[in-house]
Amino acid sequence: MNDKRKVWFNGDLIPWEKATVPLLSHGFARASAIFEVFGIHEGPDGPAAFRMDKHLRRLMNSAQSLGMKMAYSAEEISEAVAETVRVNDMGRGLIKMMAYWSEEAIIHLVLESKLDLAIFAIPDSEELKLDNAQPISACLSKWRKIHPETVPVSAKACSNYLNAYLARRDANVRGFDIGLMAGTDGFLAEGSTESVFIVKDGVLKTPPLGRVLSGISRMSILQAAPAIGIPTSEETLSPEALFTADEIFTSHTGIKISPVARFENRSFEAPGPVTSQLMELMTNILNFSDSRFKDWLQPLK
Ligand SMILES: Cc1ncc(COP(=O)(O)O)c(C=O)c1O
Repeated sequence: MNDKRKVWFNGDLIPWEKATVPLLSHGFARASAIFEVFGIHEGPDGPAAFRMDKHLRRLMNSAQSLGMKMAYSAEEISEAVAETVRVNDMGRGLIKMMAYWSEEAIIHLVLESKLDLAIFAIPDSEELKLDNAQPISACLSKWRKIHPETVPVSAKACSNYLNAYLARRDANVRGFDIGLMAGTDGFLAEGSTESVFIVKDGVLKTPPLGRVLSGISRMSILQAAPAIGIPTSEETLSPEALFTADEIFTSHTGIKISPVARFENRSFEAPGPVTSQLMELMTNILNFSDSRFKDWLQPLK
């Protein structure tokens, strides 16, 4: 670990190894933490964040839907992100931020204090391979996506990721890269940390919001696809749709589009023709070479 790395923590810049939580903190012991992750790209005028406004809106919505109070406004957080990128001299990479209750949770379950905020700048690396959209394999998980009436699935809450862990683990044990989950209603939802799309008869389809996280990549792909003549549909899909799809891909901030080359016992050309067009479109957007979507890369100042 590069011990010169600095973490923005409640307004201070502290060494990476000092950014820790007490074991009995509410955030750790009760998993009352929310987070956001988004990409930093090197632009002609310096680093820019991919749709930071949407990511910070989602962070605020996560806090609100869980009845938690943020200590900083979206504007203050965007300034803090710029400072974190600057002091760490980061080029291409990810920003990960965690907001949580750091007070001990011995008796009290409901706290009223504002959330602590930590912002980490994580440079691209051999391990992350951010621009390496390799084809992946996927299975239908035996686990169901948590029901939206049990916890708000639209919140990017750490506690929701036990469900994600189980689906990923189940997939890995069965020899697949990822697991795709249906909801408890039986309809297709999403992967552990990725939205899912299918292409059928030239139409790009993805499950509607309500049972899935509002992925910023998902939103961006749905908004950009019509610009290259690809029709889109947010619709209820049964898992059966995966077995009859022409193409399948997943989307996630780290790697924008991952084509699925194998789903259960079916093999696909990956990327297929529509997925290829979308990958090229997203790559151009992220390389600052598609002026139609230039507002999506927000300069850090
Ligand atoms: C459950 C879940 N769905 C979808 C996504 C993709 O969202 P985004 O495109 O904003 O990264 C994530 C990202 O971590 C996720 O955790």
